[in-house]
Amino acid sequence: MTISKKPGLHGIIKVPGDKSISHRAVTLGALAEGSSHIKGFLNGADCISTINCFRTLGVDIEFNGGSEVTVSGAGLYGLKEPEKTLDCGNSGTTTRIISGILSAQPFASRVTGDASIQKRPMKRIMEPLSLMGADIRSEKENGCAPLVISPSHLHGIDYLSPVASAQVKSCILMAALYADGETVIREPASSRNHTELMLKAMGSDISSSGNKIRLIPGKTLYACDLNIPGDISSAAYFIGASLIVPGSDILIKDVGVNPTRDGILRVFTDMGGDIELTGLRTAAGEPVADINVKASDLHGIEISGDIIPALIDELPLIAVVASQAEGTTIIKDAAELKVKESDRIALVTKNLKAMGADIEATDDGFIINGKDGSPSPLKGCLIDDAFDHRIAMSFTIAGLIASGETCIEHPECVSISYPEFFSDIVNCTQ
Ligand code: S3P
Repeated sequence: MTISKKPGLHGIIKVPGDKSISHRAVTLGALAEGSSHIKGFLNGADCISTINCFRTLGVDIEFNGGSEVTVSGAGLYGLKEPEKTLDCGNSGTTTRIISGILSAQPFASRVTGDASIQKRPMKRIMEPLSLMGADIRSEKENGCAPLVISPSHLHGIDYLSPVASAQVKSCILMAALYADGETVIREPASSRNHTELMLKAMGSDISSSGNKIRLIPGKTLYACDLNIPGDISSAAYFIGASLIVPGSDILIKDVGVNPTRDGILRVFTDMGGDIELTGLRTAAGEPVADINVKASDLHGIEISGDIIPALIDELPLIAVVASQAEGTTIIKDAAELKVKESDRIALVTKNLKAMGADIEATDDGFIINGKDGSPSPLKGCLIDDAFDHRIAMSFTIAGLIASGETCIEHPECVSISYPEFFSDIVNCTQ
């Protein structure tokens, strides 16, 4: 995929449904009593992996490749023993959340995924699940998938998670639904809370205060109909692009703006971005708004601490945008970037350097020196995306302002979270 400089982004755009909420809608729908009708489902490879896993566990799911899904819930105790290994593809969310459920089942299972998944850390779920009494092991004894899970009886725990990770938290919450007592999870900073919101809406006894979440098992989950909002992590590319491509003025409709996900809006606004939210409303228990973004003169800032989990997936894009801001941007406390679909600290640094930006990798982030008076020129080159969808999309945005041609090596990887990404970019840059 070759990208060249564009004059500006214009028009009205609607991004596909939220990936995190789509996973949870299918997962909790599968464990509920009754049928859940889901609209706005993300028809991306990761969420399809979740559907396929629950089909393998005997759940009847109607899905024909669009944005609507009907899940006929099996109830908490209605999953069937799988006849084959559960294949989570590239999806860390599927792997970790489903492992929490499988740990509590009266049958054995094996969970794995693609080459990237088999390198991602699973000790972070194996440890708390083992504390709950689960029998879960890494087949190659390297702390990664394939994971082999055998039946066991689970207890509630009071767990202080070393990482602010919604995947870890959600995995524990799934196991907690089956435990013989209450579970408390404490996080170092708040991670996205979609699981908690949906569990509550479906009837679970769950409460949160600050970074502490408490679940008391024993309640039936009841199916509900959901209208999933647009994914702020997908909208982010259009927000970032509109800020840095001169002359841009774009309206992005129906975007989820949950405060545990909206760090990108806070950071870009602090950098001087002209971003306006209108029509704030609630859908599926989640705050939703339309977002208007205009090209802006940006300045560097420090991004660190509790805001990091609220923008973790947007950091590659933020680095690209920071290369066009006046002064220095420092990103700290983001070591988690090393264990995403790729090592995003290494790849962002490598690719931005190759385009001519002034960026330095640190142990837990980046230091980016943006422009000093005159615009920081980027030049097109071949981007090493390592099949990581967020690297491919972030550097497509860099390509919109770079001289010459920017070539994304594996553009097909955007199908993980945003299959129509390139055509949506073309539509608003024409
Ligand atoms: C996700 C949580 C985040 C995020 C990922 C989706 C989720 O990962 O990076 O893209 O849906 O729970 P961590 O929980 O590992 O931080």
